[in-house]
Amino acid sequence: MTIFELQLYIEEAEKNPVLYQEREFDLRMEVIDFIDFQVIERINELLLNAPQPDPLLLLRNRAEKVKSRLEGIDVNLFQQLQRTIRTTLFTMNGFKHLVNKYVDINPDDNGHREEAGYDNLDIFINGLSPLQTMPEQTRDLEPEMVYYQKTPARIVFELVEKVPFTKEDVFFDIGAGLGQVAILVHLLTGIATRGIEFEPAFCDYAAACAAALHLPAVTFINVDAREADYAEGTVFFMFTPFKGEILQEVLSILQKESVKRKIRLITYGPCTSHVALESWLYVATPADNNMYKLAVFNSY
Ligand SMILES: C[S@@+](CC[C@H](N)C(=O)[O-])C[C@H]1O[C@@H](n2cnc3c(N)ncnc32)[C@H](O)[C@@H]1O
Repeated sequence: MTIFELQLYIEEAEKNPVLYQEREFDLRMEVIDFIDFQVIERINELLLNAPQPDPLLLLRNRAEKVKSRLEGIDVNLFQQLQRTIRTTLFTMNGFKHLVNKYVDINPDDNGHREEAGYDNLDIFINGLSPLQTMPEQTRDLEPEMVYYQKTPARIVFELVEKVPFTKEDVFFDIGAGLGQVAILVHLLTGIATRGIEFEPAFCDYAAACAAALHLPAVTFINVDAREADYAEGTVFFMFTPFKGEILQEVLSILQKESVKRKIRLITYGPCTSHVALESWLYVATPADNNMYKLAVFNSY
């Protein structure tokens, strides 16, 4: 980009009223990203060889100002939405419609995914979290345990579309990390949700988020999944929290639960191909050999 083009872009971002409308989250994200990675970076590049740096420094200042004005709109929006969550008992689809006002939640192309991909919906959902600083891991994981990685928010939205929940269902996220899946499933369906998490700092963080959003039906238990009590669970989710013998042990605990009542197990990531070998489960929604698609299994 030339200096003239940079100027034009910044001017347009300063003056375009659409960008400052709360509901234009997606557009704002695009512009914030462009300012960060194209405009400011380009100005920094030009500054390296500029005989007169002052006009470029002024331009960078304007770009930073417009970016923080745009970010300010989102900060206010998220505070307002957190208040809405605290004071609303969402019925089916209520939360989905609320989110859809700001972000396009229509599932993407459904094509082959090589990895867990994140997008604007994740930025939006992260923004709704009342706690913004991720805690440090305090316990060493055993070799078969998998480090924290978030399920993409879009996948959680897909999950509630794929599974016919009833209001009596109780959902468990096994290896719940920072609690986003359990919180989102509750907001999207209204059902009670539980998170089982090995790392105490993650569990405390997740519980504090649920408490700050006034969601008493969402609880987190700091326990090794091999020792957890699954008696109230009817729908279980695993974004590959562990492998090998730990996975096998937890699957046999779930199998014992399935003798008492029918259960569903939803998987995401590499654990899906292992779960598919379990003879007490049948596939309700296949992942089509794509580990980054959801698979839904029902017990016989
Ligand atoms: C891939 S992350 C998934 C996080 C969360 N389910 C989500 O999708 O956002 C796996 C999580 O499982 C936890 N974990 C690993 N082994 C565990 C075990 N034996 N019992 C409970 N949690 C475990 C890890 O600490 C980590 O937070």
